[in-house]
Amino acid sequence: MSTVRYLTGITTSGTPHLGNYVGSIRPSVQASLRDGVESFYFLADYHALIKIDDPARIQRSTLEIAASWLAAGLNPERVTFYRQSDIPEIPELTWFLTCVTGKGILNRAHAYKASVDKNTQAGLEPDADVTAGLFMYPVLMGADILMFNAHHVPVGRDQIQHIEMARDMAHSFNHRYGEHFVPPLAAIEESVATLPGLDGRKMSKSYDNTIPLFAPREQLKKLIAGIKTDSLEPGAAKDTKDSALFQIYQAFASPEETATMAKLFAQGIGWGEAKEKLFERIDQEIAPMRERYQFLIDHPKEVQSILQHGALKARSVATPFMATLRQAVGLRNLASEAINGVKKSTKTAGALFKQYREKDGLFYFKFVDAKGELLIQSLGFESPKLAGQAIAQLKAEGPSALGSPLSALNASPERIEAALESLREQD
Ligand code: TRP
Repeated sequence: MSTVRYLTGITTSGTPHLGNYVGSIRPSVQASLRDGVESFYFLADYHALIKIDDPARIQRSTLEIAASWLAAGLNPERVTFYRQSDIPEIPELTWFLTCVTGKGILNRAHAYKASVDKNTQAGLEPDADVTAGLFMYPVLMGADILMFNAHHVPVGRDQIQHIEMARDMAHSFNHRYGEHFVPPLAAIEESVATLPGLDGRKMSKSYDNTIPLFAPREQLKKLIAGIKTDSLEPGAAKDTKDSALFQIYQAFASPEETATMAKLFAQGIGWGEAKEKLFERIDQEIAPMRERYQFLIDHPKEVQSILQHGALKARSVATPFMATLRQAVGLRNLASEAINGVKKSTKTAGALFKQYREKDGLFYFKFVDAKGELLIQSLGFESPKLAGQAIAQLKAEGPSALGSPLSALNASPERIEAALESLREQD
């Protein structure tokens, strides 16, 4: 049976919270236990440097997040579990990918754009206080993923754009240098992808609305009591739809328990009682892990040694792969024979459509121009025939033919039209 590779990282910029657990740690640990799955999980401490300039906090957070993952049942023998900064190949690959990534693509990254919009609204320079690190964030993340040729990347919805960018990087590199990278797919846990926080917005460090995963029991109880609700009295029927409390409950409960809770909402359960039930349900799942977590926090040497072992495993993949990539781009031993034998690639291919099948079993195409820049990325089709029909229509009618099955025009309709025209000339 062929194995599927899962890879995900958590930025080491804070204390892990229930949102991290539900959205990332728990599904990742579960996925790692399945047959035919090979998992790479890591602590994204290079990413943390983008946001945090407090060294002690980086160190503390790295320990806490590693301990959380281990306490949640991650088996470091089964999983390659490592710290990003222990893999020097990752910054090297970041540079390779930087050189095949359009700056315009990075301009459109959500996190960067949000900073620019904020500055513009405040009447500041668009890039005021924006570091090049923030701008390059997606490329570093692309390197994380492509270094291990992961097929599936379990992430929250807010990270989907980054995975799409990593796909583009894979395509761009492959187009120039041959098929080295597998274009990754985002894996979203539909029911619990993002957990609301205390104030009802997405649970996130940046909103300061989180519930720490391993808060002591009493503190957990207090925090849960602070979840925002409306002011309906006990006895009044309550709406589950916009209730942060209900959504958090659902993330921990079985479907049956959730149905029961929904009934209680309709019957007018008081908020105090609902919070009590939520607390008990969460604590039931977390309590057994809390002890192991505390042990690891008290024995950081143990965590360090587990991560060192993981880094060795990761580098046994990364080091030889990086050697291949260096070779591919031309960073070669000067005495090796390629120097006289191989000319610059004589590919004079014009624009072209590429059809391929993904791990999800669907059929895709992309349209790239003569320089290999991605112009169109399709969504998945059920059959090669359907993908072929969409291409034929596109060729005949131009980009205006693009209906819903096509996910992304990565270039202006004019550029696409020009590339289609060049294709017609080739035929
Ligand atoms: N950007 C991710 C986050 O903040 C963390 C991350 C870094 C990551 N590199 C990754 C996630 C690679 C998945 C794959 O949530």
